[in-house]
Amino acid sequence: MITDSAGSDDAVRGAIGRARLGKSPRFGKPALANPARGPQHAGSPAASFHDVALPSSLDMRIHDKPHSPACDENKAPILAVLAPLFDDARSVLEIGSGTGQHAVHFAAAMPQLTWQCSDQPAQLPGIRLWLAEAGLPNTPAPLALDVDGPWPESEFDAAFSANTVHIMSLPQVERMFRGVARLLPSGAPFVLYGPFSDGGKHTSDSNAQFHLYLRQRDPASGVRDLEYLRRVAAAAGLTLADDIPMPMNNRTLVWRRL
Ligand SMILES: C[S@@+](CC[C@H](N)C(=O)[O-])C[C@H]1O[C@@H](n2cnc3c(N)ncnc32)[C@H](O)[C@@H]1O
Repeated sequence: MITDSAGSDDAVRGAIGRARLGKSPRFGKPALANPARGPQHAGSPAASFHDVALPSSLDMRIHDKPHSPACDENKAPILAVLAPLFDDARSVLEIGSGTGQHAVHFAAAMPQLTWQCSDQPAQLPGIRLWLAEAGLPNTPAPLALDVDGPWPESEFDAAFSANTVHIMSLPQVERMFRGVARLLPSGAPFVLYGPFSDGGKHTSDSNAQFHLYLRQRDPASGVRDLEYLRRVAAAAGLTLADDIPMPMNNRTLVWRRL
């Protein structure tokens, strides 16, 4: 397993427990209790994932859709990056689609391509509700895809994943890169959005606190370091082509299949 230097930082670990944490969303960055941090940190979904019961009427179910406020905030800036990158793509695999909000927004704005959602089975009912409500012609039924496998056989022109590598364990991050690399042709992009550290250092106080929050909740999770991801990507046959700063201390990393 490749070591994540930021994740093994003793100083960061020692600070666990001192962070003042607020609301605990199911996943994504939490709303931290530090008032100086401002309202909702970007990429901090505070997602209200309901246990999606499935009543008979679709109208009723749509009110039960999972919802991530962070997706509402970050979907436009992410789309601005994706649109030129995916201009030539006809099929995109999204890993860890979450609510399905990104999929609906991106597929509507890029009708030339098919946006294939995927996630762990527990997330699929919520994604289906978003897709059903949007009724887009280019969003097939979501795939059950855990990066631990099995992976689909089909090839895709591009891949996308947002806010997933800080939730996955390091072996899962590595499996995701290997799995994506197998599905993409040479030169194809894998776009990874989220908070990342660089050279073992967090790029903001809020990201450092977020890392602590994640570690307290699940010691296998944590904000991932760019150098670690570079090594993982290289081992899988991907190289970093672009590193785009995004609002609220997030970044979009564009990997290309070698
Ligand atoms: C913080 S959420 C992000 C969801 C969405 N992409 C967004 O930006 O709002 C993390 C997502 O990663 C997914 N995930 C976690 N572990 C996974 C795994 N082993 N394989 C596939 N997806 C996984 C979760 O189910 C969840 O949808």
